[in-house]
Amino acid sequence: MPIRRLTLSGVRNLQPLTLSPHSAVNFIYGDNGSGKTSLLEAISLMASGKSFRSSQIKHVLAHDDEQMVLKLSVSDDHLGECELDSLRLRSGDYLLKMNGSVLTSQAQAAQWLPVQIIEPNTFKLLSGSPEERRQFIDWGIFHVEQDFMAQWKVFRKQLKQRNAVLKQKESEWLSIWNDGFIESALQIDAHRRAYLKRFKPEFERILNQLDAHISVQLAYYPGWDKDSELSAVMARQQDRDLVLGYTQSGPHRAELRIKVDKYLASDVLSRGQQKTVVAALKIAQGALFQQETQRSTIYLVDDLASELDEKHRFALCKLLEDLKCQVFITSIDKEKLTDIWQPRSSKLFHVEQGVITEQAQADGSA
Ligand SMILES: Nc1ncnc2c1ncn2[C@@H]1O[C@H](COP(=O)(O)OP(=O)(O)OP(=O)(O)O)[C@@H](O)[C@H]1O
Ligand SMILES: [Mg+2]
Repeated sequence: MPIRRLTLSGVRNLQPLTLSPHSAVNFIYGDNGSGKTSLLEAISLMASGKSFRSSQIKHVLAHDDEQMVLKLSVSDDHLGECELDSLRLRSGDYLLKMNGSVLTSQAQAAQWLPVQIIEPNTFKLLSGSPEERRQFIDWGIFHVEQDFMAQWKVFRKQLKQRNAVLKQKESEWLSIWNDGFIESALQIDAHRRAYLKRFKPEFERILNQLDAHISVQLAYYPGWDKDSELSAVMARQQDRDLVLGYTQSGPHRAELRIKVDKYLASDVLSRGQQKTVVAALKIAQGALFQQETQRSTIYLVDDLASELDEKHRFALCKLLEDLKCQVFITSIDKEKLTDIWQPRSSKLFHVEQGVITEQAQADGSA
């Protein structure tokens, strides 16, 4: 599912541009501060509606511009062709269109852009909040199971309504909300369990290829005492829920613990090892997505050299090549990329003070 064409303006320091990326590998190199991460950020913004490095999107809007425009032409073997357009104003107003029609949810655009990001802060997937790891699992389900988004929305609504009742201390209404809450909670949990069952062997295979010396275990906790029925847990915790004014247990509290024996991986692995584990998680997720949908993932790999030695960089690139998907990969030095990896087909882009130009490759291809 490659991005065929990308047009942008008003993104950080980048000059307005139109690019025709390669459907396989796109090398992007340039000095510090030239605009490499900004290019990847623009793609991820279209895919998720969020920036992977600023909590507020207003920081992505170029200081001297009043609006940010992103346009992507995407081509997918299964879904067909699609044009995604977004316009963000400094006021915060936002318009997202697909083939000229206004979209009401970001998820509709996300479906077309199964983007995975591997960047220097990626190791935070291990050390960050459980929410990040829940989102990680849910990405895999969302992109494979058609009905997951709708079920997730139902669950969020049930949770909100139950919490409102708890806040108002309306205990007599709780029994009415409990059944619906439990039903949708169990649906979400079943999706997550089934996904992780398929995901774990793929993850082990990929991690072994990246680094055979690291061994980690993935332990899933559903968000309630796993030895009890959710209905029993809800009954047991009802009085405390009423005191607290919110629902203590459920899929909104699920956790994926990533462990090395009895320790959390984030407490014992080196920074490079953590990046390797997270890269394995993300490559495994993309690989599984491809196997299950016959569609392909788009990888954004920012600053490949950071934290990873040559051996690990090469192993990671090799896995990406084997996936035969579209990759955007940045580095400060061209050599750090091209010396270790000569994929069958690629394009090379140089970024200088916000201007991106396609370079001729050593073999003469432009
Ligand atoms: N909102 C903004 N408007 C204009 N320029 C900005 C804005 N936000 C950041 N910049 C500038 O954009 C430039 C590009 O940043 P970016 O992070 O994309 O560079 P980079 O090539 O990834 O650098 P590095 O190699 O250090 O990671 C920086 O010089 C930064 O100061
Ligand atoms: Mg950068």
